[in-house]
Amino acid sequence: MNTFGRALRITTFGESHGPGIGVVLDGLPSGVSISVEAIQAELDRRRPGTSPYTSPRREADRVEVLSGLYTGRTTGAPLALWIANTDARPADYAKLAQLYRPSHADFTYTLKYGHTDPQGGGRSSARETAARVAAGAVAQQFLQQAIPDLQILAWSCAIGPFTTAYRPTDRTEIERSPVRCPDPIVSAEMERYLAELQIAGDTTGGIIAVEARGVPPGLGEPIYDKLSARLAYAMLSINAARGFEIGEGFAAASTLGSVHNDPFHKDASGRIRPATNHAGGVLGGISTGEPLFFRVAFKPIATLRRPQHTVTRQGEEVIFSAEGRHDPCPVPRAVPIVEAMTALVLADFILLNRLYKH
Ligand SMILES: Cc1cc2nc3c(=O)[nH]c(=O)nc-3n(C[C@H](O)[C@H](O)[C@H](O)COP(=O)(O)O)c2cc1C
Repeated sequence: MNTFGRALRITTFGESHGPGIGVVLDGLPSGVSISVEAIQAELDRRRPGTSPYTSPRREADRVEVLSGLYTGRTTGAPLALWIANTDARPADYAKLAQLYRPSHADFTYTLKYGHTDPQGGGRSSARETAARVAAGAVAQQFLQQAIPDLQILAWSCAIGPFTTAYRPTDRTEIERSPVRCPDPIVSAEMERYLAELQIAGDTTGGIIAVEARGVPPGLGEPIYDKLSARLAYAMLSINAARGFEIGEGFAAASTLGSVHNDPFHKDASGRIRPATNHAGGVLGGISTGEPLFFRVAFKPIATLRRPQHTVTRQGEEVIFSAEGRHDPCPVPRAVPIVEAMTALVLADFILLNRLYKH
């Protein structure tokens, strides 16, 4: 199950401390202009070592196109992208390979597969998400050409106890914050908190909010392939993701119908539409044409630089403290990953609509 999508399918491959990682995209129409620089720019946003609040692993993350592009445009053949690992340090993980890290995937990968690559978490490492970001950057470029008004924005709306309800209008508001929080006061609190946690050797979780404007109405298939269901599937496939809510989400459960309902009206241009958007842009699994709004919750990073109880692979009790290079919180670096998965889901539905000519 290394493949995601139906009309636009991505297959990722590679491990954290192997030679590199990559992705093959299949199903893209021919003739889509692809800028490799734009793919690189997205990879640079996800890359570790770019702020004091990310893992200091120094990966160049240079993307190379192996197939599917000719004179800057897709040919319809599989588009294969390759990103070499340049700063893998397997020695950092020699100790970890002997034991089960609490709340990491070493335990379940071993239960399921027996023989796995434990170096840097192998396939379970968030390094795999670089391939998704590269694929998402391609999907974003397809979307820009298919639906020029579409804009996807994701940002950190909570890190630990610090939260903001502010919604940014553009990406510069998000990117000027080292933790990708567009509210400058809350961003400063988050930064201070992460700096304290780094000293204490502890980690935290948080929440990413996403708004996609200009989403055409009619995306999403009734019943099993609802747009909301596919988004949830995509988001919960990201490492350390623990929750998904669309619109008012869990808060809707304690809201009165008279407050939660979005009344319909005719707007100034004569278009019938909901006057409010508590639904988050999806009704019956199909996009309404209002902005998509959803949130993704992430757990704290599992690998701590402070002593934890666990057992070795032989069952012997040990106390270990991780070395190696780890993030204090997954959220700032997961922002471009969440955007990439959103772009892949939307591009997939747009291509499906074309295939089945609704
Ligand atoms: C952007 C990002 C960075 C991450 N960095 C680390 C890390 O440095 N150390 C770590 O132990 N886990 C890290 N994780 C989380 C693990 O990959 C994840 O917790 C692990 O694969 C177990 O899967 P699960 O938490 O989804 O159950 C990161 C996740 C994301 C999204």
